[in-house]
Amino acid sequence: MAALIAVLPGDGIGPEVTAEAVRVLEAASERHGLQLEFREGLIGGAALDAGEPPLPVKTAQLCGGASAVLLGAVGGPKWSDPGAAYRPEQGLLDLRATLGVYANLRPVKPHPALLAASPLRPELLAGVDIMVVRELTGGIYFGRKTRSESVATDECRYTVEEIERIVRMAGQLARGRQRRIVSVDKANVLETSRLWRAVTAQVLAEEFPDVDLEHMLVDAAAMHLLSRPASFDVIVTENMFGDILTDEASMLAGSLGLLPSASLGEGGRGLYEPIHGSAPDIAGQGIANPCATLLSAALLLRHSLDCEPAAREIEAAVSAVLDEGVRTADLARGGTSVGTRAFGDAVLAKL
Ligand code: IPM
Ligand code: MG
Repeated sequence: MAALIAVLPGDGIGPEVTAEAVRVLEAASERHGLQLEFREGLIGGAALDAGEPPLPVKTAQLCGGASAVLLGAVGGPKWSDPGAAYRPEQGLLDLRATLGVYANLRPVKPHPALLAASPLRPELLAGVDIMVVRELTGGIYFGRKTRSESVATDECRYTVEEIERIVRMAGQLARGRQRRIVSVDKANVLETSRLWRAVTAQVLAEEFPDVDLEHMLVDAAAMHLLSRPASFDVIVTENMFGDILTDEASMLAGSLGLLPSASLGEGGRGLYEPIHGSAPDIAGQGIANPCATLLSAALLLRHSLDCEPAAREIEAAVSAVLDEGVRTADLARGGTSVGTRAFGDAVLAKL
């Protein structure tokens, strides 16, 4: 079974972290006879610098023909001029929409060896194992935007169908876990949230009667993620709330550099990326934490290549390296740290 993997390193630390993930995927490919083939494409600021739009046609075609897409990060101050015609981030949004990957899975499970890295007390972190299911191709990110001299608007829009399919995805995931879903919205203020709440309740009652549902307002959810994180199993929420809550949730794990994500649609093709950004402040220094991207590569093997054993091997290897006390600078707390490449080497050695 040969499979094409599109690799989009993007901007900032993107190239550094994706390079490690590709090395690890190559090792998995060899060990499991996957015959993976990697082809690189431009996206984001790197595409703009080459005189292309943030999602070049060539890149969209490459991804459309691939079994999976591995992406680093996009954006940075270099391309943040508010007057610019395009921003790098638009490339990522266009890619998500083009691939139809409406469900963004963001697992949050603190590693036992890293409990001290979280600003939260260790006793609050015991047993934390959350799957955030973020709607990825709708809502305020994709609504109509207007701008005049004196006023700007961003439309937030959700259809019943968009809500139904993401809730079904959450329901299916909940069945493989503790069968508890918290649906996060702002139904006391937003009409889209009132629709979200009604559709969520109906889909789960009709199709997933075995799954428990609790509705929670997003402000309360932000608080409970810190006060009682272990009480959550699956969280399903709209695009922007999911973006914000997962940056918050990364602090349960100890660093933004740890959380992977899988973006899925119909069919097996997926987009895999760390939840962190391009970290321009440390780009090019070889010190970025590659864990989130390595773990995203594991999700790629699991969800797009149906190779659970290879996925588990990578997760176990990353875990073993952390158990040994190997730390990148973000987690070293002033102690000894290794660079991105050395961390990748340590993971490869385990494999
Ligand atoms: C993320 C990022 C993106 C988002 C940005 C870069 C557009 O923050 O994947 O969480 O907001 O979706
Ligand atoms: Mg984000």
